[in-house]
Amino acid sequence: MFLGIDVGTGGTRAILIDRNGKVLASHSAEHAAIRSEHIGWAEQDPEDWWRAAQEAIAGALRAAAEAGHTAPVEAVGLTGQMHGCVMLDAAGEVLRPALIWCDQRTQPQCDWLTEKIGYERLIELTANPALPNFTLTKLLWVREHQPQIFAKIAHVLCPKDFVRLRMTGTYAMDMQEASGTLLLDVVHRRWSREMAELTGIPMSWLPPLFEGPEICARISDAGATATGIKAGTPVAAGAGDQGAGAVGMGILAPGSVSATIGTSGVVFAATAKPTLDPKGRLHTFCHAAPGVWHVMGVTNGAGLSFRYLRDTFFPARSYDELTSLAEQVAPGSDGLLWAPYLFGERTPHLDPNARAAFVGITASTTAAHFVRAVLEGVAFSLKDTFTLFKELGIPVEKIRLGGGGARGPLWRQIQADVYGHAVELLEAEEGGAFGAALLAGTGVGAWPSVEAACQATIRPAQVIEPKHAEAMALAYVHYRKMYPALRTIG
Ligand code: XUL
Repeated sequence: MFLGIDVGTGGTRAILIDRNGKVLASHSAEHAAIRSEHIGWAEQDPEDWWRAAQEAIAGALRAAAEAGHTAPVEAVGLTGQMHGCVMLDAAGEVLRPALIWCDQRTQPQCDWLTEKIGYERLIELTANPALPNFTLTKLLWVREHQPQIFAKIAHVLCPKDFVRLRMTGTYAMDMQEASGTLLLDVVHRRWSREMAELTGIPMSWLPPLFEGPEICARISDAGATATGIKAGTPVAAGAGDQGAGAVGMGILAPGSVSATIGTSGVVFAATAKPTLDPKGRLHTFCHAAPGVWHVMGVTNGAGLSFRYLRDTFFPARSYDELTSLAEQVAPGSDGLLWAPYLFGERTPHLDPNARAAFVGITASTTAAHFVRAVLEGVAFSLKDTFTLFKELGIPVEKIRLGGGGARGPLWRQIQADVYGHAVELLEAEEGGAFGAALLAGTGVGAWPSVEAACQATIRPAQVIEPKHAEAMALAYVHYRKMYPALRTIG
């Protein structure tokens, strides 16, 4: 059995798979709510991730045993929410809550970086511009606002790498995750000494780097006691949730693209070489497989939009009930539009202060229209990434859907219609934890390569053709007109 652990934002999930990619057991444990002391701030306690990881692993092992799967765990792979900045002292103790991926407070640090290094030079050095999501900007905020904490930092990790540290005692990070720190030379797959020097971050704080399937650590005695996995079990480097999720969906070759709607929404394309967007609107990262890169566009408030709508206006209704309501409304929501900028926006606007909006309400607009408009608005914001792919000549042959947006028939059809392209569903889409388990299995030689792991385990199930592409193309033109009025309000 191979174990994949996904340290997400809402919770941690552990799954056990066999060599055919069959999920033998899984278990999830929720995290405490995100702490947001001020608008745009988002913090979580790393020790809470570790608590949830222990619960999730124990639950998955128990479920596997109950189903008669008693073989030992052969290897462990980790994935999780990207970019979060975990600051540790020399003893590996947490110095303050982590600033996580959706924290938007660091625009001043981004401006400082851009001014000091230059927009183009930053892209040359790291393949990406300075965005508040990226780890380095969070470190710089702590230096400026909490120098007494900054002075004690000895190690910096991302969320899943902190869980690895607790399981193994080893500091390590994979290339795909490191790409989201703004400290990696993405083109050459190594830490950027120049970035570290220019920003005054000691290289000694940065963990050793590994490719996704490389075995970089082993379960320690303390880790074994905490998790029930045998001491000495190999642990692969893994990847951030987007890299591992793409592996789990078989997105490794140019032309194959995924559109995943989780809390955030991501359109992800594998590339044979690093493909830079001179304007920095797409992220250019190393992929979880050696020698492969990827680009992706990110919508900060994708699944989050639907959750926000439900929690705020329909707290007693389930997502399924709301989706059935939305089915009563024709494609295009009779002109009601949703701009999903609840946490500002990344692709294509790079504007942490953009605001969300419903536009186009009339006296005939019903609750059902609001729900449908949210589902469509999220798809339009992902379409923005496809528009950039076209501009940059990134091929799109096959689109696979993942996350919550792939689960119901309505959101799937809306995506096919909005993208104006057939979309493919997989037999089992298990998210990042599955990809992490494939990386772990590859690391111990169960498959000769990440590609071979995908071929052995991932099976397409259904293709959905667009039905209302023309109507949605027209609505997209109107959607695009909203942003200029929503930028940096307040
Ligand atoms: C990717 C990103 C999100 C987080 C949380 O750049 O910010 O996908 O990893 O899921």
